[in-house]
Amino acid sequence: MKDVLKMDLAKREKQLDQEFQKKIVERKKKFLESLKTENEVFDQRTLLNMYNLLVGKHVDEISGVVNSGKEAVVFSAHKDDEYFALKVYRVSTCDFKTMWKYIQGDPRFHLRRSSTRQIVTAWVEKEYRNLLRAGDYITTPEAILKRENILLMELVHEDGIPSPRLKDVEVDFKEFYEMIREDMKILYQEANLVHGDLSEYNILVNDDEPVYIDFSQGVVSQHPLSKTLLIRDVKNVCGFFKRKGIKTDYKEFYKFVSGEELDLIDEEMAKSY
Ligand SMILES: Nc1ncnc2c1ncn2[C@@H]1O[C@H](COP(=O)(O)OP(=O)(O)OP(=O)(O)O)[C@@H](O)[C@H]1O
Ligand SMILES: [Mg+2]
Repeated sequence: MKDVLKMDLAKREKQLDQEFQKKIVERKKKFLESLKTENEVFDQRTLLNMYNLLVGKHVDEISGVVNSGKEAVVFSAHKDDEYFALKVYRVSTCDFKTMWKYIQGDPRFHLRRSSTRQIVTAWVEKEYRNLLRAGDYITTPEAILKRENILLMELVHEDGIPSPRLKDVEVDFKEFYEMIREDMKILYQEANLVHGDLSEYNILVNDDEPVYIDFSQGVVSQHPLSKTLLIRDVKNVCGFFKRKGIKTDYKEFYKFVSGEELDLIDEEMAKSY
């Protein structure tokens, strides 16, 4: 090829590349603009963090909302054929008092009285670390990165469609009961972790197996609230399976999971949580 022609081609390619980049940036900007107008109450800093994620190397597009709850919105995102869940806490509606209570007793965190943003950041850090720790023992989405009030993790999905919650599907409940019991035992006795908010809402069903999500309230077993939270988790799980016709006894379940008898004082404490 003639040199002049080659240069022309290279120039044209560069131009196309720039146009393409510009288009991507425009699309990302548009997405963030739409968030602002669709009644979302994300602050500027959150929007900027989301924008940085989009222009960074991790995700190409934030494609839709998986769930919009009181404290957090979960988006689905992807890069090529990899799918992600992006959990964004709304700093303005978080329950800081409760968050503070859970963070305070955790030996992994040394926060003195902090600003609300610092508390949410520590909360996300906790969820991130819990997910990683739990993921070494039971099935969870892999935690990828955290940035202040934003957590990026693997999307639990089938062909890009987020997996349903245990609450919303028909499965072999006896089989799930056994699997969840085992997993809770492993989580407590080997990973030294209590989920803290375990129920049919935070267990997804993928490939006929339970996948555990939403570890933000999770605490390590040394935490002063760990037994109380474990009792609550056990009761929630037993209650669900009882409604599905499975014979359960929460005291026996607790003993199976923890290896200890249920302490009456802990049980009393659990009632107020
Ligand atoms: N990694 C994931 N893969 C697929 N779906 C997810 C993932 N993470 C969260 N979801 C979906 O988003 C919902 C809310 O996520 P999560 O439980 O982590 O937040 P939450 O704080 O409990 O929100 P809410 O207050 O609405 O209950 C889940 O019930 C689930 O349906
Ligand atoms: Mg949840």
